[in-house]
Amino acid sequence: MVGPYPDWEMPPLERDYIIHKLWLAGDRARFLSEVGPGIRAIATNGVLGANAELIDACPKLEIIACFGVGFDAIDLDRARARGVRVTNTPDVLTEDVADMAFALILAIFRRIVEGDAFVRSGAWTKGALPLGRSLNGKTLGVLGYGRIGRAIARRAPVFGMSVAYSDLGIDPQAPHAYHADPVSLARASDVLVATTAGGAGTRSLVDAEVFDALGPEGLFVNVSRGSVVDEPALIAALEEKRIGGAALDVFWNEPNIDARLLRFPNVILQPHHASGTVEARMAMGRLVRDNLAAHFAGRPLPTPVI
Ligand code: 8YV
Repeated sequence: MVGPYPDWEMPPLERDYIIHKLWLAGDRARFLSEVGPGIRAIATNGVLGANAELIDACPKLEIIACFGVGFDAIDLDRARARGVRVTNTPDVLTEDVADMAFALILAIFRRIVEGDAFVRSGAWTKGALPLGRSLNGKTLGVLGYGRIGRAIARRAPVFGMSVAYSDLGIDPQAPHAYHADPVSLARASDVLVATTAGGAGTRSLVDAEVFDALGPEGLFVNVSRGSVVDEPALIAALEEKRIGGAALDVFWNEPNIDARLLRFPNVILQPHHASGTVEARMAMGRLVRDNLAAHFAGRPLPTPVI
């Protein structure tokens, strides 16, 4: 195991496997040289993944099971070259991640975090909280129209929002306006939510040009990967008030995020928690174990990536 899983996962995992805990190792290289040669499976998560160094430290490796839908931190080329299978946990977290995106959108439009601090600090007795903004009638731009993007789009009409989206290609089933590129999508959006996969293909997809297209009233929400955003460009856009605000669940350097992001009152921060419900995490853990069990029983993998 590369990093810790919820406590409830350990009894069933320890019943079926001999587990070596990489995150507890003082000397990672020494630990890997000792236990790596015997490792047949890596259990990891979406953030820690498995790089080429880790994969190569395990010559008998057969499978990498990821506790998370995003597999951008796993070196798929290396795994493929080594004939190592990779699994993830799609679908079971989709609705909860979409809820978090909407919780963030609501929170930022309606100043929920500021309002809470306003009441607690006693500021309410001295004046009124500045007004929020209405969701009704606004356009939600969905950047990455996959499972999670679609689930967010499904929620929008309940709040009176219309949807526009961008992805590599048009979805003929989508009842929304398509934009071929993020700049055009941002121009059409009051709030832009990033739901793309991470990895090389989407690195810094949301850049200064996208922020300028979003404009001084526009809001940016990220529930995908920090890598999707040019973070210094985001910080510059916030500092220069070229966008209206942001709600971020993911960052370049988690959990040691860029301290400049802490300063903005119009930014809401979350600790990479969009899938952080008991229900989603239980289903994710079950799926990790189901994939491992299927592999070692010679059955088809429930949710293979490769
Ligand atoms: C997890 C995620 O928080 O599914 C993903 O891709 O990033 C999240 O669900 C992550 O896997 C860490 O446990």
